[in-house]
Amino acid sequence: MAEPTKTATLTIDDQSYELPIYSPTAGPDVIDIRKLYGQAGVFTYDPGFTSTAACDSTITYIDGFKGELLHRGYPIDQLAGKSHYLEVCYLLLYGNLPSASELEEFETTITHHTMIHEQMHNFFRGFRRDAHPMATMVGVVGAMSAFYHDSTDINNPREREIASHRLIAKMPTIAAMAYKYSIGQPFVYPRNDLDYAANFLHMCFAVPAEEYVVDPILARAMDRIFTLHADHEQNASTSTVRLASSSGANPFACIAAGIACLWGPAHGGANQACLEMLKEIGRPENIPEYIARAKDKNDSFRLMGFGHRVYKNFDPRATVMKQSADEVLDLMGVENNPILATAKALEEAALADPYFAEKKLFPNVDFYSGIILEAMGFPTSMFTPIFALSRTVGWISQWKEQLADPHMKIGRPRQLYQGNTARDYTDIENR
Ligand code: CMC
Repeated sequence: MAEPTKTATLTIDDQSYELPIYSPTAGPDVIDIRKLYGQAGVFTYDPGFTSTAACDSTITYIDGFKGELLHRGYPIDQLAGKSHYLEVCYLLLYGNLPSASELEEFETTITHHTMIHEQMHNFFRGFRRDAHPMATMVGVVGAMSAFYHDSTDINNPREREIASHRLIAKMPTIAAMAYKYSIGQPFVYPRNDLDYAANFLHMCFAVPAEEYVVDPILARAMDRIFTLHADHEQNASTSTVRLASSSGANPFACIAAGIACLWGPAHGGANQACLEMLKEIGRPENIPEYIARAKDKNDSFRLMGFGHRVYKNFDPRATVMKQSADEVLDLMGVENNPILATAKALEEAALADPYFAEKKLFPNVDFYSGIILEAMGFPTSMFTPIFALSRTVGWISQWKEQLADPHMKIGRPRQLYQGNTARDYTDIENR
């Protein structure tokens, strides 16, 4: 870590404490409070971590007011426009764009690790057919630690590397199998002649009875969805992965924890929730009623796919995703799809409404990704698994970075205790 650039002074009663301040390469300065409890006997209070940097990192930078997202310094719109998912995976994992030979070697490695242990197929068959694919993914990814013992030693750099490659390579296979199982179709094995995104679409939509040719426009849109979701700084699921990893848990267990956290509707579950909301709204004429509900303090309803904890002007991923949505919808000929019509009308209505403008609530990436996935033919239950497979590289990159950090400690937040002070146990007959 660099040397402190400034000092903050905290005064409690008449005692003062000097706190070092570090200046990042971009973003706000950070006050170092690590010794505060030892020196002053106080904790800081920040539920939701809105003002807390939990680690130092060199992977992803977000400026929520400028709507800027950088991976290793490269803007997301350049990566989405000029690069592709596996190259972005390499960038996130290793810090720089690969040379042609490095990329070829990386792609070959990933392509040749896409099959999962044949015995793992039995796990899928243990789930109910109507299980949510995220439930299946949490279970199956966690179970990888029972199959790939030769890549669970977190202190061995080679094992860490193998685990990283296995997770990136096998996650699409696991997500596609979760889908196939849920609809009662046979599993489709990966194909090494297809690229990462096309292979995923093939595993999801091919059946043994006939030839399935992946449309290159859909493969490109799929690759963009993967790229735009690859990493997002210290969000809830990434922080979950880091917290799980801080105890020394194996990589498969940590990523399973990340998948579990991503499932929630305020995070990765938002694209499913958004599409379900659009279906519930049904027609553009019903939008005013739902906008009124979203604004009503006594109603817990929120416009799913709107708002973001960090982006407060626009979500740069949403800008790129909107272009992809237009391309896919043109291709699929669904201009008159009532869900899309409702989505477009909702976007316009919310952007024109002063409530949403004042609170800086704009469509986020999940608003558009949900529309694209719906047009491609995915059921809403597959939206979050697709987010999970895309985000796996981000989780792994952050996990690797944390393990290499000499300052790493087990994560152990403290609390503002508001409960009873010590009291004597009362026997049951006296209560
Ligand atoms: N619809 C209506 N009102 C909203 C919404 C919304 N979608 N989002 C925030 N607000 C209001 C909220 O009621 C609050 O009002 P007030 O100040 O009067 O109490 C104000 O805006 C601030 O909201 P907040 O909940 O304090 O903000 P937050 O930063 O904690 O929440 C959020 C961010 C993403 C959880 C929230 O905007 C939300 O629930 N959005 C819908 C779910 C969604 O689309 N999530 C996907 C995020 S993008 C994918 C990802 O990166 O994981």
